[in-house]
Amino acid sequence: MLLDDERLAPDPTPTSTVPQVRAVLDVDLPGASISRHLYGHFAEHLGRCIYGGFWVGEDSDLPHEGGLRLDVVEALRALDIPNLRWPGGCFADTYHWRDGIGPREERPAMVNSHWGDVVEDNSFGTHEFMALCELLGADPYVSANVGSGTVREAAEWIEYLTRADDSPMARLRRANGRDAPWSVPFWGLGNEPWGCGGGMGSGAYAELARQYGTYSLDHGDNHLYRIAAGAADADYRWTEVLMQNLGRYLGDGEVSGHGKNTYQAISFHHYTIVGPTWDAKGSATEFDDAEYYRTMVKATEIERIIAGHANVMDAYDPDKRVGLVLDEWGTWFDVEPGTNPGFLFQQNTLRDALVASVHFDAFHRHADRLVMANIAQTVNVLQAMLLTDGNSLVLTPSYHVFAMNKGHHDAASLPFTVRGTTPTATVDGTELPTFSASASTKDGQVLVSLTNLDAERPLDVEVDVRGGANGTPVARVLTAPEISAHNTAEQTPVQVRPLEGVTLRDGVLRAQLPPHSFATVSFATQA
Ligand code: AHR
Repeated sequence: MLLDDERLAPDPTPTSTVPQVRAVLDVDLPGASISRHLYGHFAEHLGRCIYGGFWVGEDSDLPHEGGLRLDVVEALRALDIPNLRWPGGCFADTYHWRDGIGPREERPAMVNSHWGDVVEDNSFGTHEFMALCELLGADPYVSANVGSGTVREAAEWIEYLTRADDSPMARLRRANGRDAPWSVPFWGLGNEPWGCGGGMGSGAYAELARQYGTYSLDHGDNHLYRIAAGAADADYRWTEVLMQNLGRYLGDGEVSGHGKNTYQAISFHHYTIVGPTWDAKGSATEFDDAEYYRTMVKATEIERIIAGHANVMDAYDPDKRVGLVLDEWGTWFDVEPGTNPGFLFQQNTLRDALVASVHFDAFHRHADRLVMANIAQTVNVLQAMLLTDGNSLVLTPSYHVFAMNKGHHDAASLPFTVRGTTPTATVDGTELPTFSASASTKDGQVLVSLTNLDAERPLDVEVDVRGGANGTPVARVLTAPEISAHNTAEQTPVQVRPLEGVTLRDGVLRAQLPPHSFATVSFATQA
């Protein structure tokens, strides 16, 4: 058996121009379980996410099932998409669910006032969404309208969705062609109540949340996981007010005699927005290295923000009965030239993929409190997984990060500790660590995720794997010659490829990461 210092190579030789990182991975110290719901998704009635993205209608020439686009469904099934949040977003607080049931030709239209001021014909409604979730094998996360709806409306929607007997709403559901109730685990109460969801203060929202929570009932075997709408970014005060004011409505205690209609989680939203102003967020595809690094500084802020909310929650809930949910995250750039500014359509480059990979590392490290995260948004909007145009379907670089990290779903997080210094880049006076990593174990396998943010230089990574490692590592990498590389219907330069030269000998894992790359390495633990 070699001692630690003998197993590791000496410090990098002065002749080497490749920066090096040395780290320790303890595979026998499993930590919190990484919920698969950290890989959740978000689909809003916004631009071409629902219409053209998921829904093409029953008369479409594209392959579909009941109007739902099958190429999109297949691509998302390959990610094991765990949940889908719907119908918004800001749209949720303008949405009246009864407008989206019954014969499509009889459904009333509405104006989608937040997103493009377009007329929404409600052809995609509750039944279509639940059918989509069934096709995807994903848990529905329904966001109820608190901003412009009523408590009764929300309560009846749950009854419509989840009640089995001959209650009024169950009968209405049957009349619309669905006999059995659906299972709806995730139930959100409002969205961004401080903004598009009603312009409320935290105290006013907390009052409403208590009221809505009281009437968000469990029917039969359906147990709601109720999520209170939370803060913007680092507004820890919002989280504190909810923790104080929801009081006995938080966690797993009973409030009314009818069920556990408490809140199980509090959400927050955080987007990677670079600026300099809201009207000039920068192009999704045209940026220089300085702007790339500024994006990464913004992206890595997520760690501090999660920790900030978690610290507040720890003070009120040391046993971590209440979950933290980041139900909107991702990059937000200027829309593509010539597209509707209200549709939030942006391309997706390798930069977006690296934003995703560093977010996931932070999520994994906070898996003891962060129980769910939802990328905004799944198709054709913001940091999309998939881009559709007519019959074409493009898998974005971000999609590949979700695919490569699938092994982390419901795995136990592992401590991954850098020894010594982490290489950095200086960005506007800030030191940005250019290496990010996380690891987990499940079913006798270890999965390590490694990101090299350096725009120009490769990175040698040497990991002292403690506690047992076995077998040949399987390594894959996502990169391209240019950070701005992106996939289109014509060209797909950003693809997953094998990462050559990765070794695992005497408990030491060695890999060289190309510049601006994301890699995963998996290997078996010692039998
Ligand atoms: O994802 C786009 C919008 O961003 C959502 O509708 C809203 O919740 C957030 O401000």
